[in-house]
This record gives sequence, C-alpha cells and structure tokens, in this order.
Amino acid sequence: MSSHQLKSHLANLLVVDDTPDNLRLLSTMLSDKGYKVRGVINGDMALKAARSTPPDLILLDITMPQMNGYEVCQHLKADGRTSGIPVIFLSALDRVLDKVKAFAVGGVDYITKPFHLEEVLARVENQLTIQRLQKKLHEQNARLQESEAKEREKAQELELALQQLQNAQAQLIQSEKMSSLGNVVAGVAHEINNPISFIKGNLSPVREYTEDLLRLVQLYAEDFPNPTAAIQEQLEAIDFTFLRNDLPKLIASMSIGADRIGEIVQSLRNFSRLDESDLKAVDIHEGLESTLMILQHRLKAEADQTIIKVVKEYEALPTIECFAGRMNQVFMNVLTNAIDALQSPKRWGNDVDDSRSIPTITICTKLLSDFQVGIYITDNGPGITEDIQQRIFEPFFTTKEVGKGKGLGLSISYAIVVGEHGGQLRCLSVPAQGATLAIEIPIDHSKKRFYKEDLVGL
Ligand SMILES: Nc1ncnc2c1ncn2[C@@H]1O[C@H](COP(=O)(O)OP(=O)(O)OP(=O)(O)O)[C@@H](O)[C@H]1O
Ligand SMILES: [Mg+2]
Repeated sequence: MSSHQLKSHLANLLVVDDTPDNLRLLSTMLSDKGYKVRGVINGDMALKAARSTPPDLILLDITMPQMNGYEVCQHLKADGRTSGIPVIFLSALDRVLDKVKAFAVGGVDYITKPFHLEEVLARVENQLTIQRLQKKLHEQNARLQESEAKEREKAQELELALQQLQNAQAQLIQSEKMSSLGNVVAGVAHEINNPISFIKGNLSPVREYTEDLLRLVQLYAEDFPNPTAAIQEQLEAIDFTFLRNDLPKLIASMSIGADRIGEIVQSLRNFSRLDESDLKAVDIHEGLESTLMILQHRLKAEADQTIIKVVKEYEALPTIECFAGRMNQVFMNVLTNAIDALQSPKRWGNDVDDSRSIPTITICTKLLSDFQVGIYITDNGPGITEDIQQRIFEPFFTTKEVGKGKGLGLSISYAIVVGEHGGQLRCLSVPAQGATLAIEIPIDHSKKRFYKEDLVGL
C-alpha cells in the first residue's frame, strides 16, 4: 500500500442519503476500505455534522425531503467552515441539466445511481488526492508569500539602514568639510590679518606724504618758474602732470582694495569662529532691530535705490540663550541677501511698474513650542530656483557678480545656526515670488542636542 493510499484511507467521509439501505451499503463498503465514515439521513443533519467536525469529503444524495442535495451544497459553500470540503453528488437523476446544476452549486463530481462500488471508490480517491494536492499547493503558496514578505521587509530595512548611513555620511562629510575648511580659513585669515592691517595702516600716511611731496613740488614750481634743462627733461620724462593726477587715484584704489581684503578677512574670521563670544540669554528682537539699524542705509531711499519696506510680525518671545553676536551675524547675512535680491536687476528688470510688488522684507518671529523659536525672513524678490537652493549653504557658492558676493554669508549662517546652536536653517522659495529663510533655534542652549536628530537629512 502506497503512502498516499494510507493517508486516503484515514480520510474522514460524510455520507448523506435518505434511503437507509443506500446509506448502509455505502458506509459499509467505504469503512471496509479503511475510511472513517459518518452517515446521516437528511440535509439538516448533514450541515450540523459537517460544521461540528468537517469531513475530508461529502457524498451527497440529491433527492431528499425538506432540503435537497443542491440546497445542502449551497449552504455548505456559503459557510467559511465548510466551503472547502469537496462534495460528490449521488443521484438517480440522470439528465444533463441535473448534472450541470450539481456542478453549478459547487459539486466536484457526480455519480449516477445505481452506482458501482468500484466507481464510487475511484471517484472518492480521486477527489481526495486532488484535495490533498491543493492543500499542499496552498501551504507552499502561503510559505512562499511569507518568505517573500520577510524578504521584502528585510530589503526595506536594508534600504532604511542605507539611507541612514548615507545621511550620517553626508553629515560627517559636511562637518569634516566645515572643520577642515574652518582650520584652513582660520590660518589664512590669521596670516593675512597682520600684513593687511599694516598696509591699511600705512596707506593714509602714504597719502599724506604724497600730498606733502606734491605740494612741495608745487611750491618749487611757483618759486622757480623757470626750471633748469635737467629738471625740465625729467618733468617730461615722467609725464609729471599725469603723475600728479594719477597718484592720488592709485592710492585711493589701493585703499579700497585694502578695505575689501579687510572685510574678507573679517568674514573669514567669523566663518572660522575665531570671534566666539559668551552664551547669553538675549532678546532676539533686539538683535533683529540693531541689525536693521546697521542696514538702514540700504533700506532707505537714495537717488538710484528702491525703498524697501520692512514689515515686522513679532510674537512675544522669551529670552533665548545663544551667542548673540553670532546670531546677529546670521540676521545680517540673511537680511543682506534679501536686500540684494530685492535690488537685483532680475527682479526689477521686467516689472518696474508693477505696483503690486513693493519690495518688501517681512520679519516674522514665532514661539514654536516650549523649546523652540522660529525667525522667518521673507522677501518678495526673484526667489531661488530648486537647483540653486541645493547649493546656497555651500561655502563660496554665490550667484552674484565678482566683487559683490563671496558666497560665505549662508554657509557661515548655517554653521552658526546648526553647528553652534543646534537649530535648523532652511530655505523655502517659490521662484518669481520670493524667498524665506527659516531660522529655528532652541530656547535653552543646553537642550540643543535634543534637536540634533531632526537635522538628519537636512
Ligand atoms: N533671499 C534670497 N533671494 C534670492 N537668492 C538668494 C537669497 N538668499 C541667498 N540667495 C542666493 O544664495 C547665494 C548664496 O548666498 P550667500 O549669502 O551664502 O552668499 P552671497 O550673498 O552670494 O555672498 P556673501 O554673503 O558672502 O557676500 C546667493 O549668491 C544667492 O544666489
Ligand atoms: Mg550673502
């Protein structure tokens, strides 16, 4: 006996027939073959038996009083507990329509009475084998789905881990870049600072000495209107008239150059945090106001400059523990950028007459929670395109013409807001409508670590 036969012979069968002789005959024959057989004589009993202990297969007579086989089968199929049990109909009805109906209500096979025992056995065996194979297939499917789900979960976990790794790496690179750049910049700034201060310091004596010497030559010329031939020759050789005019201009432009180098050095010193001052609880609004005052000359009207309106929407804020000077530097950088944007030809090139858009800077402060405040500086300038937004915090990234921007303002601000204060600095912009720089910092500096997690992916 093969193992599959062994299993089949242990199968549980339910035989339903209202003719006791039939029932007995079938039950005996199937029991003899090793099946466990229960016999019932009507539909109700069949449903009860099937529900209490679901059999592996049901042999179901069609013609029965009260509930016929079709109805029994429909009930079985409608109930989740019994819908999977294969039903073989047994009937003396021999018309094609009867058979079709048997299959339509969910039967898997049909045996015509009077039946041959061998045929019944073969068909029962057949259905049991099909059922067993189906079960196996289901199990394998379920296992496959389960392992597929697990794989998918694993892949998702891996993807997440990879993303976290990439974020961590980006942060690491960023902070590494910042700190090595900071060191280089600090060194350069320090080295340049001395020579540039003595160039700057010496320029005004040079200007005075030059003026003195030129005055002296002037006096000689007045007192000795007829120079010797040698002097006359020299005056012509050096083109004295040109020289006298040009020398003060040269010195003036050297002085502008030296001032510019001085400003750059100052920016570099700020950037490398050489001028770190103390942590203090301060009124952020005061910082904003003093920064606006320093920038006043760029906000009010001059012959060729547009007036910039400043709208303040200040909320009552507690004092904020921060490096006040450094935060002012951030305000200065962001406000300067907004002013630059509002005065850029890009904005006023096309819509000079557009009275809707008076150049405006809106400064908005908000208490975000018990722990955090936000300062939002918005301009209605040309805005910042997506690809430029990606780069504005990079050191030395600028879109301004040579000599106008060093590209340090926002990278310094980023280092101050994020690095020194554990806050966030973000840029929101709809090109052609303006830009907002959002500065969000903790109220209590000692809690700054709390916000570090939020920075991942910034
Ligand atoms: N409000 C703004 N509107 C439009 N573009 C802006 C705005 N703020 C910043 N940007 C863009 O970001 C760039 C980088 O700004 P950042 O302040 O770092 O450098 P910069 O202003 O060019 O030079 P620096 O501030 O060193 O003088 C700017 O060149 C500009 O393209
Ligand atoms: Mg700037």
